[in-house]
Parts: sequence; structure tokens; C-alpha cells
Amino acid sequence: MNLVMRYDDQLKDSHRSGLEDVYAAHIHAIREAYGGVMARQKLSNIFGHLKSIDLFTAVAEKLKYMDKKNTDGTDKHPTEIKGFVFDLDGVIVDTAVHHFQSWKKVLKQLGADITEEDDLHTRGASRMESLEYLLNQYGIELTQEEKEMWAARKNDIYLEAIEQITPRDLLPGAFAFLIDTRKAGLKLALGSASKNAIGVLKKLGIEDRFDVVLDGNDAKESKPHPEIFTNACNALQLDPSEVVVFEDAAKGVQAALAAGCKAVGLGDPEALKAAHVVISGLDQTNPSHIIELLS
Ligand code: BG6
Ligand code: MG
Repeated sequence: MNLVMRYDDQLKDSHRSGLEDVYAAHIHAIREAYGGVMARQKLSNIFGHLKSIDLFTAVAEKLKYMDKKNTDGTDKHPTEIKGFVFDLDGVIVDTAVHHFQSWKKVLKQLGADITEEDDLHTRGASRMESLEYLLNQYGIELTQEEKEMWAARKNDIYLEAIEQITPRDLLPGAFAFLIDTRKAGLKLALGSASKNAIGVLKKLGIEDRFDVVLDGNDAKESKPHPEIFTNACNALQLDPSEVVVFEDAAKGVQAALAAGCKAVGLGDPEALKAAHVVISGLDQTNPSHIIELLS
């Protein structure tokens, strides 16, 4: 490199592009080997030199391009996404509607008619949080014992509603998306607030498609608290920045973002506007496309 630096002023008219390549490759190699502050120290005289012979801008441009490529010329994934975490109800299977209809029946018995608007508040929330919200919304006061009784009643209604579900109830594209996620070498987790998640996965025949399954029994706090997704990242041994969460609930998107993950919303773009990307369903995309969108 010292020799190049000594003679480059004479070479730069005849071999300009070659010289730029040599400098860019050298700087790139030093950065890869040392990184950060050390690399800057080692390179400070070269940067000064390049400025003095008016090659700095051109070399910087070449470096930008190299930083975006792997050594074999293929594109790098700058954000290095290594895992996907899926919510269950409303993402993989069409059970969100059964949760809502079960609450509708329970609240009817308690004398209230719940609305679609209430769905936004109960979607993604734990069973008890959902009940608390609805009681509060309709001014119904119950003792703790009564609350537990009504929550259990809702679950009975829900279980009856999902009794007959089969793999045909998987949402469009969900199964193929799980398979393609595995094929792409990514880790997979389930991060659901439902205590019925494992039973539902079994009915769908996909219980062994995940590296990790976390459900409503694995987090003390309800979404939008990040606990379930933080736990999922830990169990996958990934940093949250390397993980994409798929959610149909605004509370779930908030939980994913609070955990430091990337969030893909499935459903209404307005309700899910906090997500990095919103799609209408898993059949609209594939894992590589999601990584591309988030990189
Ligand atoms: C979530 C649903 O997946 O699970 C919520 O979106 C539901 O609507 C929550 O309240 C808890 O489900 P479960 O099956 O434990 O009552
Ligand atoms: Mg959901």
C-alpha cells in the first residue's frame, strides 16, 4: 500500500479506476478486520492522502457499494433477520372471530351488546384483560370470583366453537409461509396470548413446525407488554433486532415494537399503522419478500 501511495499521483490519470479499486478493497479489508475506532485510526492517513489527490469521493462511492455486497457479489441482508415469531389467532388460523363471538355471547348474558370496536381492544389481550376491559366498557361490576366464573364460561363457549377446526382452517398462505420460513434457514417461534394455543396447533397439525412455542401460560403480562416476544427472542437465542413478529392485533404490534423486534401487521392498515409493514395476509407475500421489505 505504501508503494501505491507513493506513485499514485503519477498513475491516477492512466489508471484511475484501478487505483480506486485498490484503495476501496484495502479500506474494506481493514474495516472488516478491525471495525469501528481501530479501523478509523489505521485508515486516517489514507483518507487524508485520498483527499489530497482528489480520489476520496470516488473511493467512498465504491466502498458504499462493497458494503452492500457479500464477497461473492450477492446482496447482504443489512439487518440480518434470523427468526420469525408468529402470533396464532388471526395470523395462522381464523380463530379471532371465535374469540370475539364468544365474548359477544357472554356479555349478552351480562346484559350488554358489544360492538366491532370492542374487538380492537380484546384482540391480542389475555382472557382476563379482555373481560376486565369489557366489564369496564359496559359499567358492569363483578366480584373476583364472578369474573373467574365468566372468564371460564367464555372459554367453554370458545372451546365449543373451535372443537371442529382442522388444517382447512389455516388462513390462506399460512402453511406455505411456515414451510418457506424453515427453507429460508430462519428460526420460527409461536408467540400467542392464548392458553389454548397448543390445542389449536394440534388440531391444525402444525405443532411441530416451530422451534419454540410460547403461549398464554408463558408470560405474566398481557400484550402490549413485550414479555411474550422478549421471551420468544431469548428462547430462539436471537437479538430482538434480528426477529420479525407477525401480528393481527394493534396490541401485538405494540408488544413487538416494545420488545425491539420488527413488526409485520396483518389486516387493517389503519389499526396496524405502527407496524413496519402491513399486509392483508400471509398469502400476499413470502419470507424473502418480507426480509427485503424490512432491510
Ligand atoms: C389472543 C386473542 O390470541 O388470545 C385474544 O387474540 C384472546 O382475543 C387471547 O383473548 C387469550 O386467549 P385464551 O384462549 O387464553 O382465552
Ligand atoms: Mg392475534
